[in-house]
Amino acid sequence: MAKDVIIACDMPDRESVISFLGRFEGEKPWVKIGMELFYAAGPEIVREIKARGFRIFLDLKLCDIPNTVRGAMRSLRPLGVDIINLHAFGGAEMMRAALEGLTDENGERKTKLIAVTILTSTSEEALRRELLIEKPLAETCIAYAANAQAAGLDGVVCSPLESGVIHERCGAGFLTVTPGVRFAGGERGDQVRVTTPERARALGSDYIVMGRPITGAADPVAAWRRARAEFLGGEA
Ligand code: C5P
Repeated sequence: MAKDVIIACDMPDRESVISFLGRFEGEKPWVKIGMELFYAAGPEIVREIKARGFRIFLDLKLCDIPNTVRGAMRSLRPLGVDIINLHAFGGAEMMRAALEGLTDENGERKTKLIAVTILTSTSEEALRRELLIEKPLAETCIAYAANAQAAGLDGVVCSPLESGVIHERCGAGFLTVTPGVRFAGGERGDQVRVTTPERARALGSDYIVMGRPITGAADPVAAWRRARAEFLGGEA
């Protein structure tokens, strides 16, 4: 069920993102911090944005041996972000290790953990030819989502077009966080399969991730409000 819009702040440095978020004044949208900003500005930028009251999806897409991912999540845990992610491709043991790393001494976990299934930039052809995965892409995505759920994760990153089947397989409570969203009639950029916020709601997305249609708008706050109004319908 539609919960909120997350703004992908794909920006190169602290100054750009702080000045961008400054435009929101009293409003506190969800912010996605990805590799570009994190590697440039470090964990401090996460602390700073969090201290300003924004909710954060830290999109670092971890994938390594279980022991390393457990340690990485343990290092990231004190940042207290709301959502963090990894690649389902790393396997069930890695996903369980990540959950352990995010869990504190009292057995509590404040950060939701979601998995990237198959990157939307990977074609079915590349899956077969390069990764030697013969199954149809959609079937592989659903199987990876089911693995993530079995490992105890809270949801997946996927296309809005896959939200429905993933909810069917994993239940309505399993989160689908979906990029590839564009306003009707807007620029697509490099996104191939796009849906509008309204359609993402109809398809059952829980959170939509929108970057350039908001960050590149003449009035980003108005674009964010429009995205929320269209995605949340009467609930905005
Ligand atoms: O600017 P745009 O709306 O295309 O931004 C989408 C964001 O979602 C980017 O940060 C991109 O890295 C991310 N993303 C994506 N497709 C995926 C996974 C993540 O577009 N499959």
